Amino acid sequence: MAEAYKLVDHVYDVVVVGAGGAGLRASVGLAEAGLSTANITKVYPTRSHTVAAQGGIAATLGNMGEDDWRWHMYDTVKGGDYLGDQDAIEYMTREAVSAVIELEHYGVPFSRTEEGRIYQRPFGGMTTHFGEGTAHRTCAAADRTGHAMLHSLYQQSLKHHVEFYYEYFAIDLLMENGACRGVIAWDLATGTLHRFLAQQTILATGGYGRAYFSCTSAHTCTGDGNGMVLRAGLPLEDMEFVQFHPTGIYGAGCLITEGARGEGGYLTNSGGERFMERYAPHAKDLASRDVVSRAITLEVREGRGVGAEKDHVFLNLMHLGPDVLHARLPGISETARIFAGVDVTRQPIPVLPTAHYDMGGIPTNHHGEALTLKDGNPDAEIPGLMAVGEAACVSVHGANRLGSNSLLDLVVFGRAAAKRCAAKVKPGETPRRAPKESSDRILQRFDRLRHAQGSEPTADIRLRMQKVMQSDAAVFRTAQALEQGRKRLADVAQSFEKVRVSDRSLIWNSDLVETLELANLLGCATVTMASAINRTESRGAHAREDFPERDDKNWMKHTLAWLDDQGRAKLDYRPVHSYTLTRDVETFPPKKRVY
Ligand code: FUM
Repeated sequence: MAEAYKLVDHVYDVVVVGAGGAGLRASVGLAEAGLSTANITKVYPTRSHTVAAQGGIAATLGNMGEDDWRWHMYDTVKGGDYLGDQDAIEYMTREAVSAVIELEHYGVPFSRTEEGRIYQRPFGGMTTHFGEGTAHRTCAAADRTGHAMLHSLYQQSLKHHVEFYYEYFAIDLLMENGACRGVIAWDLATGTLHRFLAQQTILATGGYGRAYFSCTSAHTCTGDGNGMVLRAGLPLEDMEFVQFHPTGIYGAGCLITEGARGEGGYLTNSGGERFMERYAPHAKDLASRDVVSRAITLEVREGRGVGAEKDHVFLNLMHLGPDVLHARLPGISETARIFAGVDVTRQPIPVLPTAHYDMGGIPTNHHGEALTLKDGNPDAEIPGLMAVGEAACVSVHGANRLGSNSLLDLVVFGRAAAKRCAAKVKPGETPRRAPKESSDRILQRFDRLRHAQGSEPTADIRLRMQKVMQSDAAVFRTAQALEQGRKRLADVAQSFEKVRVSDRSLIWNSDLVETLELANLLGCATVTMASAINRTESRGAHAREDFPERDDKNWMKHTLAWLDDQGRAKLDYRPVHSYTLTRDVETFPPKKRVY
């Protein structure tokens, strides 16, 4: 069957899969370093999901008050409920200022202060003096920061002659004896199949938000890199930690930036009460996202929700006035009008926690090199494979990411990965021959799905998966709900054996694209559910009602999850790096949570 497909071969020093913020920043750095670089992207780069990032990018520029990278590091370690790797967090927070200045030089049109400096707004969990004050740390281009960044990064990629393969869908990794040799991709426009061989393959494929029914993620966020890694027999890390953004628009799920609360917005319940004052007396509406999402969920559960069904709360921005709303929050003003029919100058926005970000992903070190557990070594590098951005788990976000650390993660580790490649890739050195067995296996699977003649349409299976994840792996979790979720998800995964693909063509076959995406989502969902059942504690975004306390004695460790041939999850662990880059001090030993 594999012989029926003719592969077009390409050889590059490095292949990057994905053209969001991380993939583009890596590509720019690689091309600048003189490495031949291919960027394979399933959507046109400026349509990547980074475009939807609103509130901003964290960096301790100190333009609007004092700041220090050590405070940023402290906040990030604490915000992640001590599960983050502190060497990587140190790296990210130290590199933040130069990464943002670099973006400014690339042409990102940041909003400005009166003095002409980059404008910085407060964001949840971002403090000064180790929790004492409120930091103005989040650098913003109004509420369209991701949009501005993505366009500038794409322009830089063109300037540096990155070779783009637009609207190519990456099917699977070419693996040989545990090493990655490249990737096979499908050109959606011409229907041709392509084999990319490279010394390094960098996955920058984003998150898997679409495993959930209500999410802020684009329809394209289907965990493609994560799915490929699972099929290659490699692990994903900390997949139980899924962040719910407190303010998705009720019914539509679209993001209303945390920057809205950073500018002074606040949440109210049916009694008009500013309920966050009860849950987080100090940080209030700017407590970290896990705290705010749980508070909203409790308000609704206890009957203090608003609306006919009493199943959401209000975000109030009216008091900010039209001038501030127009200058600082124009994007969400428009989103609220279109998706909630609300004029934010006069009415509150109906909001509800919505799946937003995956802390888990492909385990990497702070150079972006992908890792696995091998012969007892939890930091064993996978030759030829790297990952950056939301697809990766560095892990800088630990159990819960702070808002505006995501855009930072993209550019800092995109740049770090490029630097690592510049140091170890030999320009022009021909990669080893294409591994035939691996190519054949990939093509056989592709062909099987293309001709799948079962009874279950892809969309039906996907909807069932999304509903299971939404109800059984939600903001609050219990063993009962998760066990039920595991069984229901196993049934859904089983039904994928009976998937029906109606379109057999190779050109713009969106039916087949969605089926390949669904396979990736199902892998991610399965390991998320299994990891969540296994972790019998509450930490960050993983809130177990049956295990309400954080349990550092037993659970100060990362989960690793593999999928076996039968699609069942297998779990193991790797230690948290609770030391700095120089490994000389224990920086932030676990403390009790104080909000
Ligand atoms: O609320 C927001 O603007 C989202 C930012 C983030 O997830 O970092």
